[in-house]
Amino acid sequence: MSKVLTHDLVIFGAGLAGLRAAIEASRQTQGKIDIAVVTKNQMMRAHSVAAEGGTAAVMRTEDGDSLELHAWDTVKGSDFLADQDVVDRFVNAMPGEILQLDHWGIPWTRREDGRIAQRPFGGHSYPRAVLAADKTGFFELQTLYDTLLKYNNTTHYNEFFVTAILTSEGQFRGLAAMNMTTGEFTLIRGKALIICTGGGGTLYGFTTYSQTVTGDGMALAYRAGLPLEDMEFLQFHPTGLVPSGILITEACRGEGGYLRNSKGERFMEKYAPNKMELAPRDLISRSEMTEIEEGRGFKGPGGLDYIHLDLTHLGADRINEALPLIREVCMEFNDLEPIDEPIPCRPVAHYSMGGVECDINGATRIKGIWTAGEAACSSLHGANRLGSNSTGECLVWGQITGAEAARYCATLSEPPALARELLDEEEKRVFGDILGRSGPENLYDLRKELRATMDKYVGVYRTGPELEKALEIIQGLKKRFANITIPDKSRTYNTNLVHALELQNLIDLAEVTVTGALTRTESRGGHARRDFPVRDDDKWLKHTLAFHTPSGPRLDYKSVTITKWKPVERKY
Ligand code: FUM
Repeated sequence: MSKVLTHDLVIFGAGLAGLRAAIEASRQTQGKIDIAVVTKNQMMRAHSVAAEGGTAAVMRTEDGDSLELHAWDTVKGSDFLADQDVVDRFVNAMPGEILQLDHWGIPWTRREDGRIAQRPFGGHSYPRAVLAADKTGFFELQTLYDTLLKYNNTTHYNEFFVTAILTSEGQFRGLAAMNMTTGEFTLIRGKALIICTGGGGTLYGFTTYSQTVTGDGMALAYRAGLPLEDMEFLQFHPTGLVPSGILITEACRGEGGYLRNSKGERFMEKYAPNKMELAPRDLISRSEMTEIEEGRGFKGPGGLDYIHLDLTHLGADRINEALPLIREVCMEFNDLEPIDEPIPCRPVAHYSMGGVECDINGATRIKGIWTAGEAACSSLHGANRLGSNSTGECLVWGQITGAEAARYCATLSEPPALARELLDEEEKRVFGDILGRSGPENLYDLRKELRATMDKYVGVYRTGPELEKALEIIQGLKKRFANITIPDKSRTYNTNLVHALELQNLIDLAEVTVTGALTRTESRGGHARRDFPVRDDDKWLKHTLAFHTPSGPRLDYKSVTITKWKPVERKY
């Protein structure tokens, strides 16, 4: 018999978007709303904590920045796939979010005159990334967590693994979750849900994401009937540390770092002569791969050939002041002193532009369900996100969805009822079927194969035959998943079971990603097809929607909202 917990608002995910939503819902209701924040991790272990370089906002206009310019940079960076009404809302809300965090106590890095400092970031026409050294996400998350503690209306469910989003008659009913510490199966009922579980970057082996980021919210939403939008657009960040994949922040280039090939050339001169190392990520990642593939890279371990990120001309003082984390990471993980030596880097899986389809308010097609942050696709980033626009997205749509969901909760006297059979069925699926599996397949081998497949065939550049190969392997993995074994049969802290459920989520997301990529016969932003190298606005200026069916994703499309800027050739 499973346990039943009841709240008003259920927030699935405890990163920047989740905590910002919880604060907003609390603030709107003067702390009267009863909130559950559910995470498979511990508070302050969300992957948002790893955000490094900054959060973009227009903080002052006297030197030439403007909301219009931030919007234009974002739209152009998106390769014109962003919805422009969404971009407009974002840039208008951002300055307020930065000041709000300031008032809540965040230690923003300051200029000498005491004003909030900003640094350059790729694809932005103005230095507009607000920062806290190179640990911006850590300080933002800490500030939100401290602020949330002022309210006594939030229950934190740490180490609860959610296995299903339960809906009935087109309305949210609750989350089915496993208390990982006890194995107790639990229904967390609520009037409303906000999904903010982050992206799906551990689809790849070489990734900046923490191993905990397995796209759970996106996969569960998909299985609950919500479409995933634009999943073929996965961002490769140009500077993943070789061989670990740890993020070497774009702020290194914002502070003046150079990218060099094995001939010592600053190769971005050829690809983006005006922006150089501060071109957008899609363009730099493609350029790096071209340099490597044409023999101007360095030989790396396990095929991880690389280029150099050179900070040596910045000097010790600047590196110690602006990039202390980067220096520490280089020393700890590569035994390398970046003050004296270049850093080995290559493109690394970093961010899902796609996610759960939602409207400009974060509302999904299911009544009572909102989504925010990287898990969502409203579509702010289109085909390519600009660096420092994602932490901001979490803040803005955390605020919007928190307010919207709180208003909705006030209209219901209690959470809608859930038929007991739905929960029993889910408990049977998890503890009867999956936990009971004792087949010949090792789930960790399957996970390794999935990631190797994505690394090899679904990278910065893709082709039709490679994507077909990837899809065939992924569909094979889906079948083989039925024959895995879960060695640990107990219920308490069963990490084998959790890893199996995560793998199932990743396999579904991989299938959606590759199906979308195979079908989209053009190159745009983070999706670069060697066999279709040109952007094709006539055919592909549209968003992909993937709907779950028992036999795999069914694709559909919807138009891009263009309010101001018609697509033009992208030059940097
Ligand atoms: O490079 C970075 O610091 C990453 C920032 C981002 O993804 O926005």
